[in-house]
Amino acid sequence: MLDKIKNILAEITSFSANSNDELESFRLKFLSKKGLISDLFEEFRNVAPSEKKETGQKLNNLKQSALEKYNNLKSVLQPSGESDTVNDHTRPSVPTDLGSRHPISIVRNEIIDIFQRIGFTVSEGPEIEDDDHVFTKLNFAPEHPARDMQDTFYISRLSLEDSNPRDILLRTHTSSVQVRVMQSQKPPIRTISPGRVFRNEAISARAHCIFHQVEGLYIDENVSFADLKQTLLFFAREMYGSKTEIRLRPSYFPFTEPSAEMDVSCTICGGKGCNVCKYTGWLEVLGCGMVHPAVLEACKIDSKKYTGFAFGMGIERPAMLKYRVNDLRLYFENDIRFLEQFKTAF
Ligand code: DAH
Repeated sequence: MLDKIKNILAEITSFSANSNDELESFRLKFLSKKGLISDLFEEFRNVAPSEKKETGQKLNNLKQSALEKYNNLKSVLQPSGESDTVNDHTRPSVPTDLGSRHPISIVRNEIIDIFQRIGFTVSEGPEIEDDDHVFTKLNFAPEHPARDMQDTFYISRLSLEDSNPRDILLRTHTSSVQVRVMQSQKPPIRTISPGRVFRNEAISARAHCIFHQVEGLYIDENVSFADLKQTLLFFAREMYGSKTEIRLRPSYFPFTEPSAEMDVSCTICGGKGCNVCKYTGWLEVLGCGMVHPAVLEACKIDSKKYTGFAFGMGIERPAMLKYRVNDLRLYFENDIRFLEQFKTAF
């Protein structure tokens, strides 16, 4: 038996195949159920106990060598079944799974696109900010409630006795980018700043501690409230449709004077009244106003020479209206079943 093993091993070692057919003959001859190696295992039952150990080892080695030879040759030879299709350039390609844009990105890009068409640039600022850019330079009084721990996520809060106090926090609005732009550029300035903002809110279907805003800023000589109104009307009609009406209601922000809030005619009912607009016919979309002279001066812009307007809007709400999303949390959960529904949108 040892001789037989030796001869078969020699045959296997010197074997080479030029085609899949030859390789298949090899498999049938040596490795199939009725092949030579199987026969040897049959024969092995009758080997004398004293020879079992050596013969068994040699037999296992033989089988191993045959398998290795077979697998090596198989990987070198082109698989016959696929050889035609691999070179078939008319075959449809394997489909690739395409991702989709996040609804917030879609709406943000839409807003950017509208303002870029009328000459606004895009500026960005840090999400981790200091008190100076988020509050002080925007004319917030030292005791203003927005600075409260309840609303703002502080990273470090330095004592007021410090000679150079600098509280570090997560920005609560993108108005902080206005300050950075005014500090680093000279008028005329015409820019929008999209970004993420953070507020210490309990998370629910209608509120979240992270959301997105787009800030707008326009500073030049002779910029008036009429310019603000016309710019916002243009935006509203591009964004919500050409029949959209706007209305401005007086409001208050520390960094604008006068300040207003803008409503658009309800995008669902067109102003007739429905449950989305709570039967008022109007939806509140943004805050705006003329940049407060104190803000211009704090950023070293001459408020006698220059005036400007600013506005700020959230992105989540228009996206909710557009896609009829009824729970803010869906935007942040990264559930593929939600995200996949935006595959056809850009
Ligand atoms: N920063 C305001 C907010 O977060 C939004 C805002 C209102 C921005 C009026 C402005 C503005 O630039 O002029 O609610």
